[in-house]
Amino acid sequence: MEENRIIPAHVSIIMDGNGRWAKQRGLERVSGHKEGRESVRACVSCAAKAGIKYLSLFAFSEENWKRPLKEVTALMNLLVESITAELGTFIENNIRVRVIGNIARLSPVVRSAISKAEENTAACTGMTLVIFLSYSGKWDIFQAARKMAADMAADPGREFTMEDFDNYLATAGIPDPDLIIRTSGEQRISNYLLWQAAYSEFYITDILWPDFREKELMDAIDEYSRRDRRYGKVK
Ligand code: IPE
Ligand code: IPE
Ligand code: MG
Repeated sequence: MEENRIIPAHVSIIMDGNGRWAKQRGLERVSGHKEGRESVRACVSCAAKAGIKYLSLFAFSEENWKRPLKEVTALMNLLVESITAELGTFIENNIRVRVIGNIARLSPVVRSAISKAEENTAACTGMTLVIFLSYSGKWDIFQAARKMAADMAADPGREFTMEDFDNYLATAGIPDPDLIIRTSGEQRISNYLLWQAAYSEFYITDILWPDFREKELMDAIDEYSRRDRRYGKVK
C-alpha cells in the first residue's frame, strides 16, 4: 500500500474507548486514560515521521465536564503531566503545540502548563499538534458568531463572507481536517468539529484508543488514500 499512500495534511482523532479498555481488564477507568497516553505518544511520533502537517486530538469535550469530579481531575492531572513530560520531545522533533477550546474553564495549573508548551514550541516549524481541550463544535461556532456580530455592528459598511467567518473560529489558520478518525466504534461526532468537518473523510474503527498505535494510524491513512473526495462535483 505504501507506494499509493496519500498523506493527509490534517488528521484529527476522536480518542474514544479508554473506559471500556480498562473495564475489559477489570481496572479503573483512569488506567485506560493512562494507557491512552501511550497511544498519543505513538501517534504523535508516527504522524510527525509520516509528514502529517497537523495532527489534532480531541482530548476533552465541553460535555466531559459532566463526568465525576474524580475522573475529570485524573484527566486534567494526566494532561499536565504529559504535556510537561513531552515538552522536550516536542521541541527536539520541531513539533508545535496548540491547545484549542474554552480555556477559561480550565484551572490555572492546566492553563499554565498549556501556555508553557505553546510558548516553548511557538517557533517549531514541523508538525503542529493541536489538542482540543474543553472544546465543543457548538461552543466554537457560537463564540465565532458572537465575535463576528460585534465586528459587524462596529463596521456596518463592511461585507462579511463565509471565509471571514472561518477566521473567527477557534481553529482560525488551521486547515479543515482531511481525515477524522474515531476509535471504539461509536458512529457519532459528539459535538466535535462541526463546521470544520464539512468535507472530512470519516474513519471509524472498533479498536479502543489505548490499542490504537502506529499500525492502526497507518491503516487509517491507507483507507483514506483509497477514498474518492468529490466535494459535490462529478469526476
Ligand atoms: C475517551 O475515552 C477519553 C475521553 C473522552 C476523555 P472514554 O473515557 O470516553 O472511554 P469510554 O467511551 O467510556 O470507553
Ligand atoms: C468524545 O468522547 C470526546 C472525546 C474523545 C474527548 P465521549 O466518550 O465523550 O463521547 P460520547 O459521550 O460517547 O458521545
Ligand atoms: Mg467515550
